Amino acid sequence: MMRALVRSLLLIGSLLAFAGCEVTSLPDAAVPGEDAGSPDAGMADAGPPDASTDAGTDAGIDAGYVVPNIVIGRSLFWNDAGLLDDASTVSFAKIMGVAADDGHGGALLAQWFHRFNTTPHSERALPAQFIDAVLVAQGADPTQWDLSVLPFKVTGIHNRIDLAKLSPGGHCGELRVSVSSTDVTLQPFHALFLFRQPLEADDVEPGSGRVTCVGTARRWAELSSLDETAAMAQLRVLLARGLTHQRFLMMETVEFTLAPWEWRQWLPAADGGVENPPLFQQLDVERINRASPMRDDFLEWVDQNAAQLDARQVEFPERFRVQSVRVNQGVPRVPLNVPANPSFPMLRQKLEIVGCAACHTTDAEFVQTRTDRSVSAFYEKELAARALHLARFARGEAPGAPFGPLQMNPVLPP
Ligand code: HEC
Repeated sequence: MMRALVRSLLLIGSLLAFAGCEVTSLPDAAVPGEDAGSPDAGMADAGPPDASTDAGTDAGIDAGYVVPNIVIGRSLFWNDAGLLDDASTVSFAKIMGVAADDGHGGALLAQWFHRFNTTPHSERALPAQFIDAVLVAQGADPTQWDLSVLPFKVTGIHNRIDLAKLSPGGHCGELRVSVSSTDVTLQPFHALFLFRQPLEADDVEPGSGRVTCVGTARRWAELSSLDETAAMAQLRVLLARGLTHQRFLMMETVEFTLAPWEWRQWLPAADGGVENPPLFQQLDVERINRASPMRDDFLEWVDQNAAQLDARQVEFPERFRVQSVRVNQGVPRVPLNVPANPSFPMLRQKLEIVGCAACHTTDAEFVQTRTDRSVSAFYEKELAARALHLARFARGEAPGAPFGPLQMNPVLPP
C-alpha cells in the first residue's frame, strides 16, 4: 500500500515535471478556477513563462534561478517511515513537547484530552478515559510521563505554503504534522499540529515591500533538485527550524471515538492548556437552517457577498461558525439551507466545501491522511495542485488561492 502510494506520488511528480517543461501551455490551467476573484490572480499572466528569465525581475533575488521540477515527496508531503518513525526528527512525544509551554507536553495532553469531555456543546469521554488509564500506568504527575510510549504515530508532514497570506505583515502558510492514535480503544482518532511559516527576509521584495514568499518557496523547491541523501539532510534542517514552540499555532482533530464523526480546533489558552474556538470557515449549519434572526442576518450577508463567496474569497465571521461539526457515517450530511441564487447556482456547495465537514467527506472518507499513511483521493489531487502552486511561488509569481480546495475542479458536495 505504502509502496503504491509512493509510486503514485512519483508518477504525479513526473507528470508535474513534464508540466514544468511545458509551462507556456499550462500555467493558467494550474490556477484554481475560483481564483478569478483574487486580486493577484492575474499576475501569472504578467510574468514571462520561462523560469530562467523571470526570477531576477519578479523575485528580486538570485537572478537566473531555475525552479526545479517539483517532486511531491520531496517538497510537499512526507509519509515515509524512515523519516516519520525517526524520533530524533519527529514523534508524537516531540511534537507535544514543542506545542506545550513547559516543553514536555504531558500536562497539555492531560488538559486537552479532558477538555473533550467538558465543552458544553460536546462531551466525549473516551479521550479523558485514555488519560485516566495513563495516570494509572505512569503516575499522577503528567509532567513526569514518558510520552514516547503512548500509542500514537506520526502519519505525515505537510507543507502548506499554499495557505500563504500575501499582504504586508502576512506569512508563508503553514507546516503541519498529522498524528493518529494506534490505541485499540481510542479509535479512530486523528490530530493535526499546525505551525506558522513566518515571512523571512527573502520572502519580501526589497524596495516595494511586496510579499512573495519566494525565499521560503525556493527552500522547499530546492529539495526536489537534491539527491535523496542530501534532500533528507536538508529536510531535517528545515523541520528543525519549522517545528518550534514559537511557530506553533494550534491542533485540529477529526475523530470517531463516539458517533458521529467530529471535527474541532484547539487553540493555546492563557492557562497553558487549549480551548475549542469556532471552527475556521465552518458554518453552523444546524443553527443557520432554523428560522431565527441569526438566519436572517446570515442570508442577508450571503446576498451581499454572493459573488465573492462563490469565488471562495471571503472569511466567514465568527457569528456564523460553530465550535464543533459532526457527520454521521452512512447518513447524508444535512445540507446548508440557502435559497437558490440563479447567478451562482453552486453557491451552497461553495459555502460548504471550505468547511471541515464537507471537505473531509465529499471526496474523502472522513480522513485525509490515514493511519497507514496513505491518503484520500481528495488529498492526492490536492498535492498535484500544490506542486504547481509551489513552482509558481518559487518563480516569484506570488499566486493567490481561494479558501478551501486548491485543485481546479474539486468534487463539490451533492
Ligand atoms: C479544503 C479541504 C479541507 C478543509 C476545509 C479542512 N481540511 Fe482538514 N485536511 C485536509 C487535507 C488535504 C489534509 C491533509 C493535511 C493538509 O493538507 O494540511 C487534512 C488533514 C486534517 C487532519 C489530520 C487527519 C487527516 O484527516 O489527514 C485533521 C485533524 C483535520 N484536517 C481537521 C480539520 C478541521 C478541524 C477542519 C476545519 C477547521 C479542516 N480539517 C478543514 C483538507 C481539509
